[in-house]
Amino acid sequence: METKVAILNEQKLDKNIIEEAAQVIKKGGVVVFPTETVYGLGANALDEEAVKKIFVAKGRPQDNPLIIHVGDFNISPYVKTVPTVAKEIIKRYWPGPITLILEKSELVPMMTSAKLSTVGIRMPANDIAIELIRAAGAPIAAPSANISGRPSPTDVESCIEDLNGKVDYILGGENSEVGLESTIVDCTVNPICILRPGAITVEMLRELDENVYIDPSVLTKPQEDFKPKAPGMKYRHYAPKAPVKIINGDIEKTIAKINEIVLNYIEHGKKVGVIATDETKERYNNDVVISLGSRANLSQIGKNLFKVLRSFDTMNIDVILCEGFNEQDFGTAIMNRLKKSAGFDIIEA
Ligand code: TXA
Ligand code: MG
Repeated sequence: METKVAILNEQKLDKNIIEEAAQVIKKGGVVVFPTETVYGLGANALDEEAVKKIFVAKGRPQDNPLIIHVGDFNISPYVKTVPTVAKEIIKRYWPGPITLILEKSELVPMMTSAKLSTVGIRMPANDIAIELIRAAGAPIAAPSANISGRPSPTDVESCIEDLNGKVDYILGGENSEVGLESTIVDCTVNPICILRPGAITVEMLRELDENVYIDPSVLTKPQEDFKPKAPGMKYRHYAPKAPVKIINGDIEKTIAKINEIVLNYIEHGKKVGVIATDETKERYNNDVVISLGSRANLSQIGKNLFKVLRSFDTMNIDVILCEGFNEQDFGTAIMNRLKKSAGFDIIEA
């Protein structure tokens, strides 16, 4: 398939290009587009045949439901009810990086919800995304625009790398502002429950529901027989080609431990990549050290994480060692993605 690529200036949107991409959606095609979290791979959420193409292009298992992206606040056509706490979340955080799980209406096809009776729904905070959804005249179902299993794309080059030739249209904008996917909060249960941590943190949501909690399987390695509430949680995710190991604990001990492990690998003829921070990057005795940014700026770390994970794939690295982060505020989301990319291989420093 031939893929058309168009890069837009987010400050001065070319409406003709948006209209052209919207026509592709209307005709049942698939379009990559930017959002504030990560790039999405979109199709008309209400068109079963179109949605099927998303699963094919990504190589995504069909039991993994899609999030639908809306361009206005009237979500009543797509859901049965909106509980009060969900209304409050929408009022405070939309457009923005939080997806609500709600009981779905008949209008949302089973292909989109992967046969679940619920649907994930969010309004992205990105002008290209919003204009595209409005011009398409329908909600857009979109997973992250990566080949299944790879780190999500936060820039248009990564989307081209994964999906050129597999989709109809790639609409590029700026690099994703947040860099990690939206928080997913299940609003069909009481208290509400976080199924995927993101930039809207549990600490922030506690202001709206003091009992909100993070699903335990988000933070610890799931058991073999575990049945996840977000089906996507059971698949290996965010994984570079080389295995990732997280070294976690006191930062001085972490540095010493990483240096010790590096030495051991080098002695065995292996090439190691270290994921560090601005504060620590000079302290490693290794050729390949990439900094995620400053520990004092977790937003920057989250924004850079997937790009850094992807960058090792072209480097012939045998193993990747990464510093851990405190699991609070945005650090919870960062550690969740790291743990999944490492398959929960964590070494205490
Ligand atoms: O930030 C984001 O959410 C990005 C951008 C493109 O909006 N999208 C994204 O979609 O991350 P995806 O498909 O890569 O991840 C969606 C996750 C999956 O783990 C899926 O299992 C879960 O959301 N999910 C979707 N619908 C669900 C539902 N009804 N119940 C439980 N989990 C659901
Ligand atoms: Mg994804």
